[in-house]
Amino acid sequence: MSYNIYFEKTDHEGVLNALATYGYCVARNVIRPDLIDRLKGEIDLALDPERTLPPANGKFHLTFAEESHALWDLVDNSDYMNLCAALLGDRQLCLHRSAAILRTPGDPMGAWHSDHRGHRKGPPTSANDFLNLYSMPSGGWFYLNGSHPDRSGLAVIEYSHTPDWQPPEGFHMDQDRIFLYRDGEETPFNQSDIPGYVPLISEPGDLLLFAAMTIHVNLPTNERRYSCGMAFRPKTVQIDVPWALPESVERLKARLPAHQQTLLEGYTGIVPDWKP
Ligand SMILES: [Fe+2]
Repeated sequence: MSYNIYFEKTDHEGVLNALATYGYCVARNVIRPDLIDRLKGEIDLALDPERTLPPANGKFHLTFAEESHALWDLVDNSDYMNLCAALLGDRQLCLHRSAAILRTPGDPMGAWHSDHRGHRKGPPTSANDFLNLYSMPSGGWFYLNGSHPDRSGLAVIEYSHTPDWQPPEGFHMDQDRIFLYRDGEETPFNQSDIPGYVPLISEPGDLLLFAAMTIHVNLPTNERRYSCGMAFRPKTVQIDVPWALPESVERLKARLPAHQQTLLEGYTGIVPDWKP
């Protein structure tokens, strides 16, 4: 790759240009070591408090902002929120969703996929089908160990974020444009030998960004790997979800200071196991 993907967190123009051009980039040094450590500790507490998660496993928390305190300290970091506002083109934001992932050594590369559900045919079947419909960056993730192909982290397929992108010769996507397959195979592709493959290399305090439609995958995990992220959306983007506001959202609101409570105006929470 012969272009730059690393930008200062205040270089909004650089970040936006890279996202639009390549479909991904890295904002440098968004969080400091003390916050990195606190987030890792909260991820352990939320997902594996007894540290009993076996090797070669992954666990997800799909409402991490409702548990985390450190993420809400981040919300008071003006560089971070200014970057979020620039990414969304709006300053009046609400929380859209959040998550944390813990993986243990031996967890293999996942299946290449897009988080975007805007190309799905047929009625919604999962919470993602309501939440992942917008052209806002899909990934705004802290890989708290950093990302490196030798250790763990994130890989993307460059340029895969545009509607006219086609899979390389010998590959295709399913009709919903979610998973990528090698022609003739029935399980989604989960290897690195594909044109456009870019394993991201980043430091623990960096924010990894990718566009709504960018095809991505988790790299093979050779360490206890922590990641988390918060996504916001403009309050003007009002969404209808079929689930009632979970009680956990009321509990979150009750513990936030007033200036942060406004970020919950429009937040739907998530019922991860929602089914039609
Ligand atoms: Fe994903």
